[in-house]
Amino acid sequence: MRRTTFALAATAMAGALVLTGCGDGGREGGTTDAGAGAEEEAGFAADATIGVALPQKTSENWVLAEELFNEGLREAGFEPIVQFANGGVTEQQNQIQAMVEQGAEVIVVGAIDGSQLGTQLEAAKDGGAYVIAYDRLVKNTEAVDLYVAFDNFQVGVLQGTALLEGLAERKGEGPYNIELIAGSPDDANSTPFFEGAMSVLQPRIDDGTLVVVSGQTTFEQVATQGWKAENAQRRMDTILSGSYADTELHGVLSPNDTLGRAALTAVAQAGKETPVVTGQDSEVESVKSIVAGEQYSTIYKDTRELVAQTIATIKALQAGEEADVNDTESYDNGVKVVPAYLLTPLIVTQENAAEVYENDESLFPLTQG
Ligand code: BGC
Repeated sequence: MRRTTFALAATAMAGALVLTGCGDGGREGGTTDAGAGAEEEAGFAADATIGVALPQKTSENWVLAEELFNEGLREAGFEPIVQFANGGVTEQQNQIQAMVEQGAEVIVVGAIDGSQLGTQLEAAKDGGAYVIAYDRLVKNTEAVDLYVAFDNFQVGVLQGTALLEGLAERKGEGPYNIELIAGSPDDANSTPFFEGAMSVLQPRIDDGTLVVVSGQTTFEQVATQGWKAENAQRRMDTILSGSYADTELHGVLSPNDTLGRAALTAVAQAGKETPVVTGQDSEVESVKSIVAGEQYSTIYKDTRELVAQTIATIKALQAGEEADVNDTESYDNGVKVVPAYLLTPLIVTQENAAEVYENDESLFPLTQG
């Protein structure tokens, strides 16, 4: 079962887990009696250094996160080190190592490759730091205390549902010809996005409502290395010339806006009619496209909310309190189930954009024509 119903019970339970984990991690003065000792467990200095290791700038939400972490952590009294790793995995590994050497009490990590940070994060834990996976899960290591993210599986469910609704709305009666795009295989989010979407789409493929004309339906076949637009566009070009010479493409499942726009470009260049295309991130160009009736949908994951939740978690750890979590079963990273705080993603279409972005001063104006 996923989230919600047991949220309160889970919060209490997983909060205790967090403190136990930190005691085990060798935090100085840690107690072995997590129950009785929890309150006494020292947090860390109120002006501590906090490391935030962000991935590449593969979408606008990461750029916004950089700004918000710097501002929010400073405002909370901490000393932030916020870094992108545009050079790739090795750069991110080196950055985390340097953050640990600089005495960071918390490492917040948006991993480029969720499976390649074990050594650095284990060193962080050995040095007594807390590790929070931000937006993307860190895999195959004990060295992660908490996960703060939007519900990734639900993102996929919303995308799959939007694709079906968009097809019915814009493409008449089925069956519909569609293609599938997934995210980067090294990003731990890409699988839950795809699996969430396929939980909705697979039954419609099985009953013949949807036809994937290229025949490419497995995650491996449809993944997009590095979340790069050019990789998705190249794959779509090949599919369009190979499988759609004499037939219409009605819809494309895209995991985010950047790749969705790449698909729209490929289709336009092939001289085809605009298909129903999904997305994620509420990027400016895509919101404009949705309002103009081109891209069909995106997802709103308010980065301000995600960063605020992460900073609230850091403050709780600083004060030696239990961190708030609402899911203790969905995110198994291969060696442990990571207690998570999951936020709710929202679907956005032309119809509800103004309503969803009502409180977002940068996106709302785009819906007003
Ligand atoms: C994020 C998405 C984003 C993608 C590419 C994912 O991990 O959750 O919001 O579109 O990375 O940057």
